[in-house]
Amino acid sequence: MKQRVFTKVFCILASLLVPALAEEDASKNVVTFKPTEIKAPFIEQFTSSWDSRWEVSHSKKISESENDENLLQYNGKWAVEEPSVYKNIIGDKGLVVKSAAAHHAISAKFPEVIDNEGKTLVVQYEVKLQNNLECGGAYLKLIKKQDEEYDPKNYNDKTPYVIMFGPDRCGSTNRVHFIFRHKNPITGEYEEKHLETPPQAKIEKTTVLYTLIVRPDNTFEIKINNKTATTGNLLESFKPSVNPPKEIDDPEDKKPEDWVDIAKIPDPEATKPEDWDEDAPEMIPDEDAVKPDDWLDDEPEMINDPDAVKPEDWDDEEDGEWVPVQIPNPKCENNNCGEWTRPMKKNPEFKGKWKAPYIDNPDYKGPWAPRKIPNPNYYEDNEPHNFEPMTAIGFELWTMQNQIMFDNIYVGHSEADAEEFAKQTWVVKNKIEMIEFEKEAAKEKEEMLKNNGEPGLKEKIAVFAEEFKKDPITAFKKNPIFGTLGFILCAFPFASLLLVNRPKRKGLQQTIDELREKKQEGEEEEKETEALETENVEENVTSENLKQRTKAEGEEEKEEEKKDEE
Ligand SMILES: *[C@@H]1O[C@H](CO)[C@@H](O)[C@H](O)[C@H]1NC(C)=O
Repeated sequence: MKQRVFTKVFCILASLLVPALAEEDASKNVVTFKPTEIKAPFIEQFTSSWDSRWEVSHSKKISESENDENLLQYNGKWAVEEPSVYKNIIGDKGLVVKSAAAHHAISAKFPEVIDNEGKTLVVQYEVKLQNNLECGGAYLKLIKKQDEEYDPKNYNDKTPYVIMFGPDRCGSTNRVHFIFRHKNPITGEYEEKHLETPPQAKIEKTTVLYTLIVRPDNTFEIKINNKTATTGNLLESFKPSVNPPKEIDDPEDKKPEDWVDIAKIPDPEATKPEDWDEDAPEMIPDEDAVKPDDWLDDEPEMINDPDAVKPEDWDDEEDGEWVPVQIPNPKCENNNCGEWTRPMKKNPEFKGKWKAPYIDNPDYKGPWAPRKIPNPNYYEDNEPHNFEPMTAIGFELWTMQNQIMFDNIYVGHSEADAEEFAKQTWVVKNKIEMIEFEKEAAKEKEEMLKNNGEPGLKEKIAVFAEEFKKDPITAFKKNPIFGTLGFILCAFPFASLLLVNRPKRKGLQQTIDELREKKQEGEEEEKETEALETENVEENVTSENLKQRTKAEGEEEKEEEKKDEE
């Protein structure tokens, strides 16, 4: 009777739970890709026409002279495809770095040259490290307009850029670069200005949004996932600084021969006092010390062990003369044996070597520094935000990990548009990815539960429903009990009602018994593992224990040997 009630409740619960859990998932967040209406000097969503804009470079890499010929060429593969992890918007493709440990270069010309003079510059794009990132770059470069027409086929590491922005990681070095190249108006030379304290890149497989905003007042802001990661000023936050110092040390000015920069000297007037005895020793015997009454002048420190007994089988001829073991003399416990010597004490007459006291040097002129002269290369650019015109965007990267995905690039002048663009793209993606992410976290917790304690029936059904949704066959194989149950309950709801009341329930009872058995098995296994672990721990507690044990065993053996001999 009890079993019948249990079966009934179980069936009803299962028939409610399985479809409910499966349905909850299926209805969630199916979003299909739609290109944006937002316009910008450059906006890229890697739609089907992407290859009319982007061109892969197979140029030689100029600045490296590695021995491996392969490394000298940009031979990394690129693809435009949907994400392989944390899938998000259906039909939304991105540009993906396909080759691990390779140089990659790809670029796209802007429809028109972007001149930023007097405007805000916004650079925004998504990075998805689908295969993590241990060592590699994921930054972009805005390529400087040149006299000659820009040729994407020859894009390489020496192609002059204006701005470099984005994540770069190798081991513990992890930063979001913001570098701009600035022209010295006097020499005409360019110098890279590096953000002094760059923020850290987010190393994760979900999509991360990087935004750089430079405003016409020279302030800048870097946002990561729409959160301010750092702010600063082009004139203050970069090394080397945009503007050189106004004055420099005169290279002609040399320190004069007779310049005195020693502040203190030994007093030349001072003499050693008559009564100064340099030879008086530091320590002397303490004459006030008295030899203690209980001092034993003739008592040796070590004595023969009175308990030592010469073994009966000791053969003086073969084994040499028997000597008892030596032990510390118990009478000398207080270190009071042997010849008594006076303890030493500090000598009140001790003075040591005489030295003249130091006085201010009358010839001291202070520290020498060269004279300052106006910097002949001085200039003042108070508007470094007016970047030079830019003609293209490029990714020029080396990376150990492939599968880095780039998407939804915005290069323009409107913070509001970039924001709106992010709302249409990254915000939607992020929401979907986070659901998946949290599900995985929950699953991990589940796994932990499985290892630490048997999960409840509800969790088991939920896991099954999850697996069933993804791959029904595997789910069935892994869990034939729920599979069969689910099949019977979902496909034949009426049959299930019959099952509850009809003699066929024997089969069902069997499955329930199996379930119980499995649970028990699991518990037993766990106990075994636990026991094993405890054993290991105990064994490791101290090597001392082990030593002692070995010693004891050795002694036992010896004793046994002795007995045998006897
Ligand atoms: C970014 O954050 C701001 C302020 O927290 C918010 O108003 C805005 O909607 C967010 N934008 C996106 C794209 O998430």
